[in-house]
Amino acid sequence: MILDILKYPDKRLRTIAQPVVSVNSDIKKQVKDMFETMYDAPGIGLAATQVNFHQRIIVIDISEDCNQPFCLINPEIIEKSGEIEWEEGCLSVPNYYENVKRANKIKVCALNEHGNTFDIEANEMLAICIQHEMDHLNGILFVDHLSKLKQKRLQKKAEKQDKKL
Ligand code: NI
Repeated sequence: MILDILKYPDKRLRTIAQPVVSVNSDIKKQVKDMFETMYDAPGIGLAATQVNFHQRIIVIDISEDCNQPFCLINPEIIEKSGEIEWEEGCLSVPNYYENVKRANKIKVCALNEHGNTFDIEANEMLAICIQHEMDHLNGILFVDHLSKLKQKRLQKKAEKQDKKL
């Protein structure tokens, strides 16, 4: 099932997601729907917060052929190093791209869609994507990392678009 994606400046994007208590059939269904929604959009990552489901789940696939689906439940960054700047976008902030600085290398511990714990080391684009999606679970958007001036301009643009609709 394809889910609706919340769009900036929707206040629900500011919700802090709760940890998943048990990876049961409801959570597995949610993961499946999130993959469908992400591939349909199309995007390379999606956090549960963006589809108004406030538990700590993210799905990612940065492969060109959309054949490397990857789900992280209750992800925690346990190590990070380096710095990288990359132009980011977000399905919740359509048609807007800006450079953001993040850690270049991270080690993350999470549960997979079967409820098993795993560790993953990621760098560059995958590391950026995981950090971007994990921010969503804490109610943070990539635009929050930009200068106040850029944020004001974006806010004005969003208000104008709202009036047009
Ligand atoms: Ni995003």
